Amino acid sequence: MEYAFFEGKIVPIEEAKISIMTNSFHYGTAIFEGIRAYWNEEHGQLYLLFARQHYERLLQNAKALFMELKYSVQELVDITLELLRTCEIKEDVYIRPIAYFKDLKLTPKLIDYTPEIAIYTYKFGRYLNTSKGIRVKVSSWRRNDDNSIPSRWKVAGAYINSALAKTEAIMAGYDEAVLLNGDGFVSEGSGENIFLVRNGKVITPSMSQHILEGITRKAVINLINKELILEVEERSVARSELYLADEIFMTGTAAEITPVVEVDNRKIGDGSAGDITSKLQDIYFKAVRGYIDRYKSWLTPVYEK
Ligand SMILES: Cc1ncc(COP(=O)(O)O)c(C=O)c1O
Repeated sequence: MEYAFFEGKIVPIEEAKISIMTNSFHYGTAIFEGIRAYWNEEHGQLYLLFARQHYERLLQNAKALFMELKYSVQELVDITLELLRTCEIKEDVYIRPIAYFKDLKLTPKLIDYTPEIAIYTYKFGRYLNTSKGIRVKVSSWRRNDDNSIPSRWKVAGAYINSALAKTEAIMAGYDEAVLLNGDGFVSEGSGENIFLVRNGKVITPSMSQHILEGITRKAVINLINKELILEVEERSVARSELYLADEIFMTGTAAEITPVVEVDNRKIGDGSAGDITSKLQDIYFKAVRGYIDRYKSWLTPVYEK
């Protein structure tokens, strides 16, 4: 049986319903997160990945939208653990917390409304092809500007931009889009951050390039520093640099670490995952399933042992 956390309690998923009059449904003012939990058959354990970091981001984003949620980070982590246990999850899942204004009123504003948070789980395997890699297209759509709808916030309405870019890419026969920002520099994918390798240097668009401050991005920068003993250049990246890259990969909770093997019909490297990308994937996929002790701090075990 599937359950959700809805209006303060865990209920069967069928009972977790909102009205069509719900304010955030109309104005895209919901704040959401995507969290993964990885099942390890050998350990008989489900590992929740970066739970605190996701709820910290959610509460910070909510605060920016004057959405005063009555839960702390720890309470939200605990509710998620309880939900996963109630659903008796023993496979890889995606967890979707979503905070919204529940009022049945029609003014697009952020104050004098009542915030609510719902959490549910979603069966989820690979989002993109992490083994063969993906073909991407530089989108004709520009990334939301920080002074219009900040990409830094995981706010529902901002994802119109992602949906337009992703749809355009799929309809043109690609797997994913890369969006340039208003200044014409590379920002990110529709739901992923992006990294390039050029002449042994790892480069990623800096935080001021109208990107989401990805939790996986941060973890991967840490892996690059600590495991590969390489620095990461965080700076503005020109579109033309993509075509000259030796390796490109995308990061995200859903995308994990996905090699990009083609950009706008130009092959990247030899058309398969490069060395740095493969090394990072190897460490990341072991770490998220609880196989690397020094990265156990990334994980919250769901079941007591
Ligand atoms: C637009 C966008 N960029 C980047 C990411 C990657 O962020 P994270 O690593 O925190 O999942 C996501 C996914 O949440 C996203 O939607």
